[in-house]
Amino acid sequence: MADQVLTISSLTLRRPDDWHVHLRDGEMLAAVAPYTVRQFARAIVMPNLSPPVTTVAMAQAYRARIVTAAGPDFTPLMTCYLTDGTDPADLIAGFEAGVWVAAKLYPAHATTNSAHGVSDVARIRPVIAAMERAGMVLCVHGEVTDPAVDIFDREAVFLDRVLAPLLRDFPGLRVVLEHITTADAAQFVADGPATLAATITPQHLHLNRNALFADGLRPHAYCLPVVKRERHRLAVRAAAVSGSPKFFLGTDSAPHAVAAKESACGCAGIFNAPHALESYAAVFEAEGALDRFEGFASEHGARFYGRPLNEGTVTLVREPVDVPDRVAGIVPFHAGERLAWRVVG
Ligand code: DOR
Ligand code: ZN
Repeated sequence: MADQVLTISSLTLRRPDDWHVHLRDGEMLAAVAPYTVRQFARAIVMPNLSPPVTTVAMAQAYRARIVTAAGPDFTPLMTCYLTDGTDPADLIAGFEAGVWVAAKLYPAHATTNSAHGVSDVARIRPVIAAMERAGMVLCVHGEVTDPAVDIFDREAVFLDRVLAPLLRDFPGLRVVLEHITTADAAQFVADGPATLAATITPQHLHLNRNALFADGLRPHAYCLPVVKRERHRLAVRAAAVSGSPKFFLGTDSAPHAVAAKESACGCAGIFNAPHALESYAAVFEAEGALDRFEGFASEHGARFYGRPLNEGTVTLVREPVDVPDRVAGIVPFHAGERLAWRVVG
């Protein structure tokens, strides 16, 4: 008799949250929001619109537009885009009023719509000090922008030059290092204080830098921080499935129109919202860690942000799903691939 292999055929999780997403605005917001809502109860919404979301009034108006697009079953958690001119008192007033959940540090020119970001962290020390006192989370795009630093090294150099001194100077500051891509970052976070955590995207679990050049230049595999060598991908995967409460789900779903990606100067960003949970499930299954998926997707982030766990559930079944070439007119992550798990509600 052949050996019987027992495989799980369905997986029900507490409803998860996305702790890092770009929902955009206008028609794009209306087109992409339903994919996030289908899977996630809440999301930390990135503020890198044009112009960026820097004031309480802008955040309230943007939140209202998201609620219109997303409907009543979804809670957007707003972030403030920090600039050299952010006023600490205004920021903390917005946090205490419940408008902001966190603030986002984009080093100026590090990525899409970051031109108004922070030119030097030294300039916002009073803001950081106020956040530390208030217990407001700082979300960090962790890359240096020094053009002399190789793009594949910018995250690791950021840890040494910016993040380590920041944590030393502000030991009470709660920090999420977003979308980690390197063994260095995974180790830094694992070894760091309990006030430090990290989000992990699907693409950094699935792709290494060969994906950028597979049979030609692949703009749809391009995001920032850029995907790295295989050893880094494996370290990030190990962190995601480790069960550590410091690592949690943040898709960094970042849709761009096809023409903006397939261009002589293509935009950074991968639209992974349509099959995000399916994509993460593939990783947890391959790593033999499906029992740790719920912690990563639905518990660790909420605990770090001091929010209640969600009440509802989402179920995935082991049924193939063919990812189309376009979703809402945009090329999604895994376009043209077949995934083994399907979200059924
Ligand atoms: O790939 C990325 N796309 N990385 C970011 O940091 C920003 C994002 C976007 O807004 O398109
Ligand atoms: Zn992002």
